[in-house]
Amino acid sequence: MKARLALLGGAKAVTLPWPAYPVIGEEEVCAAVKAVMARQLSDCGRGGLVGQMEEDYAKRFGTKHAVGFSSGTSAIHAALFAAGVRPGTEVLAANHNWISGITAILHAGGTPVLCDVKRGAFHIDPAEIRRKAGPHAKAVVVTHMWGLPADMDPILAAARERGLAVVEDCSHAHGAVYKGRLVGTIGDVGCFSLQGSKAIVAGEGGVLVTNSRRLAQRALVPGHHPGRIGWALTLRETKPFAQAGGMWTYRIMPVCAAIASAQLKKLDALNAARQANFDRLSGRLRRSCPFIEWPKLPPNSRRGWYSTPAFFTLERRGVTRNKFVQAVRAEGAPIGGEGYTDWSRIPLLQDMRLFSQLFVPRHANGVEFRPVPPGSLPNNEWLRAHMLLFPIPAVESPALMDQVAEAVEKVAGNLAALARYEPKEAKK
Ligand SMILES: Cc1ncc(COP(=O)(O)O)c(C=O)c1O
Repeated sequence: MKARLALLGGAKAVTLPWPAYPVIGEEEVCAAVKAVMARQLSDCGRGGLVGQMEEDYAKRFGTKHAVGFSSGTSAIHAALFAAGVRPGTEVLAANHNWISGITAILHAGGTPVLCDVKRGAFHIDPAEIRRKAGPHAKAVVVTHMWGLPADMDPILAAARERGLAVVEDCSHAHGAVYKGRLVGTIGDVGCFSLQGSKAIVAGEGGVLVTNSRRLAQRALVPGHHPGRIGWALTLRETKPFAQAGGMWTYRIMPVCAAIASAQLKKLDALNAARQANFDRLSGRLRRSCPFIEWPKLPPNSRRGWYSTPAFFTLERRGVTRNKFVQAVRAEGAPIGGEGYTDWSRIPLLQDMRLFSQLFVPRHANGVEFRPVPPGSLPNNEWLRAHMLLFPIPAVESPALMDQVAEAVEKVAGNLAALARYEPKEAKK
């Protein structure tokens, strides 16, 4: 007899606890305590712990420069400023994104042009770059969503054709590799959030990597302290900012920098644990649930880690993706559906009365923010309707992965019951 779905009152398939996140060991604790005991609570320059963290990241990513930031969002803002974004310029970004990939453009004074993803992918469509980059376009933000490296070759080709700088947002993809190259080092500048849900964490923090001395210096202008920019800005175009830049206060706390350095040493081990968990889960579900399609990577590539996506391709009356997700969640496996909000539809980006309280809607040269009309990002809509998101623990957990697989298989084995199930109206 089939086990009854937890959604319908049966026992949950997942009984094991989910490992705590982030994974914190003695190294992070000691690093943080040492920083506090040394009174390194704020650093307006580039002293011990911040300088050390920047050297560690530059070495790990093989770039000439790394700069610490207070957040991933501030790093993206600074990268865009560095790339020449200013009022009256446009920046292309996929709507399928974290909202910071869009608002950071506005922080830099630029105007976002929201683009569709490539059909069946999670990243900006190069055809959209060609279609939507007008004469005022300066840059494109490429977000390596859900740890999957974006298909950079055609994106770079389209960006170069249109004269756009390429800012990679790698906040979901620390250590991901595209055709043999680490993401973040393929475009002009790479940005990483080190916030607490990311593959490696600082607490709050961010880091920017680049091989360009010019971009690294310009990236200090929006938010680093005169105690640093006073001596770090040496180029003819940056030196005039040496007394003060934008003063957004984007420096990282030394205690966070120390934690980030300790975490960076574990990146490969944490990513390997997640890869092993993913291989176990997806290997089993590939055999038992072929209606779940797992995205393919280009050759010589490796994913980074956040929740990892798949496509729900089951076509059966009465069993929607959302109902399927609800049933698997009821089994105790915290999978997700479409991911983030559809930013193109939120009031901030639709209602210009709201938008204009925070940002400039129209610039003197005629560049203006235009809300996206409904139905104009069809691949994004397809993606949102078909996505599944699987959280993958950063500690090797074969028994838990087996239970997650059992949860999915149990639901897949009870589709007739699920089709009959009518979700109750949410109680008011
Ligand atoms: C893809 C992506 N980019 C940028 C950010 C922004 O990072 P932060 O919260 O550190 O500003 C996040 C954070 O959730 C993110 O997921």
